[in-house]
Amino acid sequence: MKYIIANWKAHKNFEAAGQWLAVFSRHDLTKLKGKLQVIICPPFPFISLVKERLARYDFIKVGAQDVSFFAEGPRTGEVAAENLAGLVDYVIIGHSERRRYFAETTSVIFQKCGRAQKNRLEPIFCLRDVNDIIASKVRFVAYEPVAAVGTGDNEPLAKVLQLKKQLRLSRDAVFIYGGSVDEKNASDYLNSDAVDGLLVGGASLDADAFYAILAAAAALF
Ligand code: PGA
Repeated sequence: MKYIIANWKAHKNFEAAGQWLAVFSRHDLTKLKGKLQVIICPPFPFISLVKERLARYDFIKVGAQDVSFFAEGPRTGEVAAENLAGLVDYVIIGHSERRRYFAETTSVIFQKCGRAQKNRLEPIFCLRDVNDIIASKVRFVAYEPVAAVGTGDNEPLAKVLQLKKQLRLSRDAVFIYGGSVDEKNASDYLNSDAVDGLLVGGASLDADAFYAILAAAAALF
């Protein structure tokens, strides 16, 4: 079983999200069942729409791209883990764009993980390199080298595996690679038993391109 995660980042409006779902749903998604766990992470405003429209596929889950380090309460504009509980199953935490543009520190990222876990949301913990410390009790670890994110310059499998070794993850960890994954290079990673899944940014924005990655992944098993 491999995990393929779509990260839409801050792209799309409501109409474009609906169109994506219409195009995606035209494909025979049942072919993916038993082979893949698909996790779609849209911006917060489209989470309900994505969830409702894909609810009939039990192998497709919805995730958030971030969560507040505050608990629910008077924090206008924030989205707390309590707000997401029961709505999403996963939450991306510590993405390099959050670290860079929102100055998220290790301490903030750890607090976010704690909030997520307390509310039964599975953190997908992103790290940029071996120096980023992984929060405790995190199962999903996504390695996203900054030089590969959004650049078209995906990191070769050999280097990804080298990094994984250095991390000394526990045996039940789920190791994900992200950084310029597309339909052509996805199988390079998924053919390796050491890579449990992929985090896809740019190539997930187009429903056909994302489906092509899923189809390529499913064809391997
Ligand atoms: P990318 O983004 O696929 O566009 O490189 C990956 C990510 O940042 O999650």
